Amino acid sequence: MMIQKFNSYEELSKAAADFVFQRIVNGLSEKNKFNLCLPTGSTPEGMYKELLKLFEEKPNLDLTNFHTVNLDEYYPMKRSNPHSYYNFMMNNFWGPLSQTHKTFLIENNAHIPNGETNNPEKEGETYEQVIVNLGGIDLAVLGVGINGHIGFNEPGSDPDSRTRMIELTDETRQANSRFYNSFPEVPTLALTMGIATIMDSREILLLIAGEGKRNVLEELIKNEVKPAIPATLLLYHKQLNIFSSI
Ligand code: F6R
Repeated sequence: MMIQKFNSYEELSKAAADFVFQRIVNGLSEKNKFNLCLPTGSTPEGMYKELLKLFEEKPNLDLTNFHTVNLDEYYPMKRSNPHSYYNFMMNNFWGPLSQTHKTFLIENNAHIPNGETNNPEKEGETYEQVIVNLGGIDLAVLGVGINGHIGFNEPGSDPDSRTRMIELTDETRQANSRFYNSFPEVPTLALTMGIATIMDSREILLLIAGEGKRNVLEELIKNEVKPAIPATLLLYHKQLNIFSSI
């Protein structure tokens, strides 16, 4: 495990973007493909801005074999809903990237659990198959919840879990209510990549920003795995990088 501390959110965002971009460029040149797992939320917003700048500097980079695979989506959730994570990704990353790089086709290269499905169990299996067919995830970028969730794997999630529907804790709904007019409007369910799916990634970059995450950071520094704090399960991963601005 490697923890790097940054003096500000801006520095963390730049460093994360540099790290991710370098991995993408190397992956594409060395094995002609790269599969990147991505989070939504406040933490990665700065990284997406910086990452788009780096892509702009390389307009001829062929992204035909670059795929992004998102961690989660609310359920049920229409793609067109402004609160959907699909919409977040369109605004923050996929949309602008597809403008500068015509080889990045959103319908083909961008993947996210389908919040519109009427069969969430099947959607979990389908999403797992998508990842297998792509050849697995090369790098998973993660944020973390104040209760230590990764993706939407809430405390107590099974380390062997795969993509599935999960009930969100009130703590998570409360934290995410900042994007809604009122708490009851926050969805109670989500589709999330499982812990085992995340752990199968070849490398992990965990981003920690915001004072509310201090307890999670302290638990990680103790280097002890506790299922009540899902992020500590990442300590079992051989290629875990943690970037923190707190
Ligand atoms: C979202 C996700 C979540 C968030 C976490 C932190 O796709 O996977 O685990 O990373 O809830 O959210 P922010 O960054 O808004 O504090």
